[in-house]
Amino acid sequence: MKKRKRLLLNHEKTSPILEEFRILRTNIHLIAKKRNMQTILITSTNAQEGKSTITANLAGMMGEQDLRILIIDADLRLPSQHHVLQQDNYMGLTDILRESIHTIDVIQPTSLRGVDIITAGASPYNPSELLSREVWTELLESMKKNYDYILVDAPPAPIVDSQIIASKVDGTILIVEENKTKAPEFSRSLDMLTKMDAYMLGIILNKTKKRKSDAYYYNKK
Ligand SMILES: Nc1ncnc2c1ncn2[C@@H]1O[C@H](COP(=O)(O)OP(=O)(O)O)[C@@H](O)[C@H]1O
Ligand SMILES: [Mg+2]
Repeated sequence: MKKRKRLLLNHEKTSPILEEFRILRTNIHLIAKKRNMQTILITSTNAQEGKSTITANLAGMMGEQDLRILIIDADLRLPSQHHVLQQDNYMGLTDILRESIHTIDVIQPTSLRGVDIITAGASPYNPSELLSREVWTELLESMKKNYDYILVDAPPAPIVDSQIIASKVDGTILIVEENKTKAPEFSRSLDMLTKMDAYMLGIILNKTKKRKSDAYYYNKK
């Protein structure tokens, strides 16, 4: 998938992938609404499995349904949401976490209907320390008043930053890349997240050759 095509909504109005994203959106919305979940972490076992791409496209799909969505790029080590959505990244989450700026000054509208973003900002030397701060918890909680969902893009699950985020959000989605993510590593990711009391909202099988809606399943208990 070329960089400029990562936002499906802008390029592929009728593709089967779009239909899968619609199903995904509906499933997530149904479960999250029932369980009163608004802050959702999107992570995976390794880099490059599609976290940032899925976050942006899912946000776009939710926005199309008149939901108000905030994307927060909390992948402070390797941020990419500003590339996916073609936003400025002069200021971002790191500035909020350092309390050097008001949140309102960092939120940017995007080209997607109903979707705003807080980009990552300049990469800090102490990402896990910044993400452990109370101001991060307060930010996630306070945004619930303004948005239906806050989607948090993050580093892979084995990186402690993601585990810290998992402990602060309402639900976590784990992405798996078909024929790539190794089963033992995946189980370790799942273990690490559940140890942090993450509520597993679902698992998404990405880059699948099959075009089936059963390519992902959800925690419906
Ligand atoms: N479903 C998909 N089909 C094809 N390419 C994809 C898909 N999902 C992601 N990609 C591509 O894989 C690469 C990594 O995606 P990205 O979202 O940046 O991963 P991560 O955030 O997990 O590191 C990007 O080049 C992206 O365009
Ligand atoms: Mg990413």
